[in-house]
Amino acid sequence: MSEHAYSDAERAAIYRVIGERRDMRHFAGGDIAPEVLGRLLAAAHQAPSVGLMQPWRFIRISQRELRGRIQALVEQERVRTAEALGERSDDFMKLKVEGISDCAEVLVAALMDNREPHIFGRRTLPEMDLASLACAIQNLWLAARAEGLGMGWVSLFEPQALADLLGMPAGAKPVAVLCLGPVTEFYPAPMLVLENWAEQRPLSEMLYENHWGER
Ligand SMILES: Cc1cc2nc3c(=O)[nH]c(=O)nc-3n(C[C@H](O)[C@H](O)[C@H](O)COP(=O)(O)O)c2cc1C
Repeated sequence: MSEHAYSDAERAAIYRVIGERRDMRHFAGGDIAPEVLGRLLAAAHQAPSVGLMQPWRFIRISQRELRGRIQALVEQERVRTAEALGERSDDFMKLKVEGISDCAEVLVAALMDNREPHIFGRRTLPEMDLASLACAIQNLWLAARAEGLGMGWVSLFEPQALADLLGMPAGAKPVAVLCLGPVTEFYPAPMLVLENWAEQRPLSEMLYENHWGER
């Protein structure tokens, strides 16, 4: 064991939160105390980022009417997604894919504008800005679970329509509508597994040695 390792209890808490984080679509209303929301956003802001670019921007949606308009955009895309799914369309429409109206807080996570000058680590892989934002969202997700709050990541929307709605500058891009708040209970497994929509694959299928496909 490394001398830098955390205590047994601390390590158990880290693995526990990773294992018990769930994407939540059912919320119990209520609210999030400002200091808790502050801790969650501070956790997000400590994420790693390519070239320390910190490309994340978070917009807190406090106007109820604006929340409704975001939900309408998501609903539009949900219907289009169902159409694109063909024979799985009916099953998809039965799934709950967002909790925008019931959650305590809605945050929109976006990539900043003017990202082109940032080429450190992005010259050949420009999508590393998105990877960095995803790291921030994951920090928020894990911190929320540790605080006893659920979070759902909603990516069913037309990005330009949401960017226009929120007055984003050209080049900025919304990536996630995050629903956050108290829940009655956390799903014991991914909801898409519980609903028989998808299956989880074992780690052993994703792990190779030396060359692709070699085990
Ligand atoms: C990038 C990203 C986008 C997602 N978008 C949606 C979404 O639009 N609607 C939804 O219901 N779930 C969405 N999810 C949640 C996934 O369905 C969920 O993470 C997956 O089924 C595994 O479940 P778990 O997060 O509870 O482990 C998204 C997750 C990620 C990482």
